[in-house]
Amino acid sequence: MAQPFLKWAGGKGKLAPKLAAMAPPFLRYHEPFLGGGAVFFAFEERGLLGSAFLSDSNRLLIDAFRAVRDAVEEVIAALEPLAAAFDRATPEERRALYYAVRDHRPASDVAAAAWLIFLNRTCYNGLFRVNGAGRFNVPYGRYANPRILDAERLRECSRALRTAQLTAEDFESACERAQPGDFVYLDPPYHPLSATAHFTKYTSDGFGPEEQARLAACFERLSARGVAAALSNSAHPSILRLYEAKGYDLQTVPMPRAINSKGNGRSPIPELLVTNFHRPEVASTLRDVQEAAGAAAATPRNSRKAGL
Ligand SMILES: C[S@@+](CC[C@H](N)C(=O)[O-])C[C@H]1O[C@@H](n2cnc3c(N)ncnc32)[C@H](O)[C@@H]1O
Repeated sequence: MAQPFLKWAGGKGKLAPKLAAMAPPFLRYHEPFLGGGAVFFAFEERGLLGSAFLSDSNRLLIDAFRAVRDAVEEVIAALEPLAAAFDRATPEERRALYYAVRDHRPASDVAAAAWLIFLNRTCYNGLFRVNGAGRFNVPYGRYANPRILDAERLRECSRALRTAQLTAEDFESACERAQPGDFVYLDPPYHPLSATAHFTKYTSDGFGPEEQARLAACFERLSARGVAAALSNSAHPSILRLYEAKGYDLQTVPMPRAINSKGNGRSPIPELLVTNFHRPEVASTLRDVQEAAGAAAATPRNSRKAGL
């Protein structure tokens, strides 16, 4: 089974099996806040996907996914010398190597993918953060033995991604692509539960209350068009207000955070899961999808080929 090749803040490794189990039969899969892709990989592993549209506003991330999909052996070859140099180095040399790599500008998509994977494995908490000039600025992580190169995992991810379409774009244009009967999983940067939690700064854009409201409006448009959607967020009152009384199902789930900006904050934080499967417009398109799948399964292969 493919596991994400990047650690990602807010990664949904724990929630992914639950989401895959509760998803209704659907036509095409869309994930507009891809991050490390834990949910996509879980769906793919269960054979739930025909075609998948994966996107994120982080261009470096999407370029890395593309390089892993299209040129995985070259990515592995580019990562090998970095991983070997790191493994051989003393703690002080490792730190110096980290900052030398961080300051380097990769010359190709393959080199950029290797660069991102190396930094992701060795930086503080696997965070992705850029400064105002768009330069990656997470400090060194000081892990005893980070696994920088896992060639088999990269190959499995490449296989899982082979038919996925990958685009760097805002969630709203990605959602417009979804058609009735499709399924969209939305996992935005969370609204912080407290003023000290810094979960909103994934890219230089940030994701504040206006973005949360724009996303809620997008979720409503998907629902009205008969597109099945599920959305994760923090169970903060200002977020609950955006999704209440709209015919959606709201569940709160205590979830351990994979990455927390404070090392001591690993206690379960309530997460909100919003689904629209029972909204009448969505329920009726999902019934159509299920009936069509049932009819296709009941039709003998020969008559299907003959278009009967
Ligand atoms: C919580 S993370 C997704 C984590 C992912 N589900 C996983 O399991 O790794 C949120 C992602 O949203 C992306 N993002 C932030 N603003 C965005 C926007 N306006 N449109 C699309 N993606 C955005 C960030 O780059 C980040 O990768």
